[in-house]
Amino acid sequence: MLPKSNFAKGALIVVASAVTSEIVYWVYLLFWDKAWKKYGTKKQTQCDNVVTEVIFFPDDKIACKAHFASEDGCENKMCRFTHEANSLSRLYGYLTSAKTSLDVSVFVITCTDLADLLIEAHKRGVLVRVITDDEQVDITGSQIWKLRSAGINVRTDQSSYNMHHKFVVVDKMFLLNGSFNWTRQAITGNQENLMIINSSKIVSLYLGEFEKLWQNFDPKNRNGTSFQKRNF
Ligand SMILES: *[C@@H]1O[C@H](CO)[C@@H](O)[C@H](O)[C@H]1NC(C)=O
Ligand SMILES: *[C@@H]1O[C@H](CO)[C@@H](O)[C@H](O)[C@H]1NC(C)=O
Ligand SMILES: *[C@@H]1O[C@H](CO)[C@@H](O)[C@H](O)[C@H]1NC(C)=O
Ligand SMILES: *[C@@H]1O[C@H](CO)[C@@H](O)[C@H](O)[C@H]1NC(C)=O
Ligand SMILES: [Zn+2]
Repeated sequence: MLPKSNFAKGALIVVASAVTSEIVYWVYLLFWDKAWKKYGTKKQTQCDNVVTEVIFFPDDKIACKAHFASEDGCENKMCRFTHEANSLSRLYGYLTSAKTSLDVSVFVITCTDLADLLIEAHKRGVLVRVITDDEQVDITGSQIWKLRSAGINVRTDQSSYNMHHKFVVVDKMFLLNGSFNWTRQAITGNQENLMIINSSKIVSLYLGEFEKLWQNFDPKNRNGTSFQKRNF
């Protein structure tokens, strides 16, 4: 009696656990499958899209701006710059692709070609805003006054700390971030990197910071002036 019942119980347990584990397995498969579809592929797509490209410096030679970034191309037969694509020519490409805005936050800008690209963008109606370090504005070769006299709004920090960012947001859409100073030395001398990131989330974080600094560095928001403003 007893052993029989025990046997029945045992058989029942075996069958029940087999059925349960089968159910668990199928539920697992179903959810895993869904999870894979939902997160797996999405994650993969994000990874593919976020970092579009990484550019490394130094270049052997300076890319010819006329060749890469002007309509007429380079007309100089004795041109001493290279017409072969390199890292700088990629950067030219990103800057010339701007249609609506260039938000530039770079520690040092002494490279005339890059400054000229900003001026050309400004002339074709792109809203160019530049934030740079106050102590770098007047260094030898600084392009800041040239940018300002071309009508580009440039703002600086007002402190002994560095405005040490080196990033550009193009058309509020993608970000170029890296160690890259806009100097000749960074182009042909230093080891530098520049990552092109196309992610609305990351870009909006950088734009948020840019807007914050843009307001903070507005001359109107500086001490004496805001005091005057209150009196008006
Ligand atoms: C931006 O570039 C700097 C310098 O290469 C690097 O330290 C930082 O991690 C970069 N940030 C992002 C979000 O890639
Ligand atoms: C940026 O460039 C300037 C001028 O070449 C150089 O003195 C400075 O060390 C550089 N800074 C960085 C962080 O690369
Ligand atoms: C960034 O993504 C947008 C939307 O997918 C696309 O139109 C644009 O060409 C991309 N830009 C870069 C530099 O990858
Ligand atoms: C003006 O700025 C200085 C230095 O940043 C600060 O110490 C001072 O409190 C400020 N004054 C006013 C009225 O905001
Ligand atoms: Zn050339």
